[in-house]
Amino acid sequence: MKILVTGGLGYIGSHTCVELLQEGYEVVVLDNLSNSKEEVKEKIKEITGKEVKFYLGDMMDEQLLNNIFTTEKIDAVIDFAAYKAVGESVQKPIEYYMNNVSTVLVLLKVMTKHHVKKLVFSSSATVYGDPEKVPIKETDKTGGTTNPYGTSKLFVEQILKDLYKSDNTWDIAILRYFNPIGAHPSGLIGEEPNGIPANLMPYIAKVASKELECLSIFGNDYPTKDGTGVRDYIHVVDLAKGHIKALEKLEKESQGLYIYNLGTGIGYSVLDIVNAFEKVNHVKVNYKITNRRSGDIAECFADPTKAKDELGWEASLGIEDMCKDAYNFILKNKKD
Ligand code: WQD
Repeated sequence: MKILVTGGLGYIGSHTCVELLQEGYEVVVLDNLSNSKEEVKEKIKEITGKEVKFYLGDMMDEQLLNNIFTTEKIDAVIDFAAYKAVGESVQKPIEYYMNNVSTVLVLLKVMTKHHVKKLVFSSSATVYGDPEKVPIKETDKTGGTTNPYGTSKLFVEQILKDLYKSDNTWDIAILRYFNPIGAHPSGLIGEEPNGIPANLMPYIAKVASKELECLSIFGNDYPTKDGTGVRDYIHVVDLAKGHIKALEKLEKESQGLYIYNLGTGIGYSVLDIVNAFEKVNHVKVNYKITNRRSGDIAECFADPTKAKDELGWEASLGIEDMCKDAYNFILKNKKD
């Protein structure tokens, strides 16, 4: 099978391309390099010994998308292409809705035209807003999103549900990621946030590598075990493997719309992560407690039972692997 991976040179996209190639899929990547680097293409080849076919461009470019579908015999699409910085989305709602929603409409239009109706969509646990209870099941209430990033994912999920209702020959898997962290054990690919990292793990890794001075822990007065925020951190390689399983599901089924939480089912606090990171990497992470970050919630972690039962997928890497691989990547790619 030949898979079009949009945003395929990005953090989760590149790790998924590695798994796809290693599973024997042919991979075509469309990426506008807005949050990735073209050199990642070579890194993917270094890891797998295989190449992706790369197209530089944006998903809003309908002509380019048509060319790709005409030139390449695409069997299915995995759509990663989106902006994902929660804080930035509050400042730039128009950019976020244009990039995260309008591009999907263009993609769906072109897929329909070329009779390609198998889609794996990169969604997020943020669609649950501030969850009423944890662990979170796929049937739990969504909505009440606290930022345009999460709302954009909710909008696309609704679009896909409406599309399937209008034409049930579509075959769609919606994957709700919890908190992807870590990097490929080779250290060749990982999370390279431009500028100051917004997310916890890359920030911790840069404090440990002395590229940043001190971690601010956003509040220790949440109703959690130690007062700091609790999240479901999942190794990006486990997450990537979840996409392979979702693709296999679409290969097996001729039509359907499926929603899965991709998490470990374990909630770790910010202090748990700091302690695990220090222990496994034998480093010190300087931190200070500061005020809460607006839009943050206290606790969010998955009930991953459905993905295990229906996809035969479950996360296998632990918090130590995540911390070790995250730091290994930063050390191997540290700019002197
Ligand atoms: C985790 C915890 C913070 C940074 C985001 C987005 C979205 C999603 C997952 C894809 C929280 C605390 C963080 C820091 C801190 N990705 N923190 N100091 O907000 O749970 O989710 O990533 O869908 O991008 O929803 O992740 O890593 O920002 O925060 O104390 O410098 O770490 O308060 O408790 P978040 P995060």
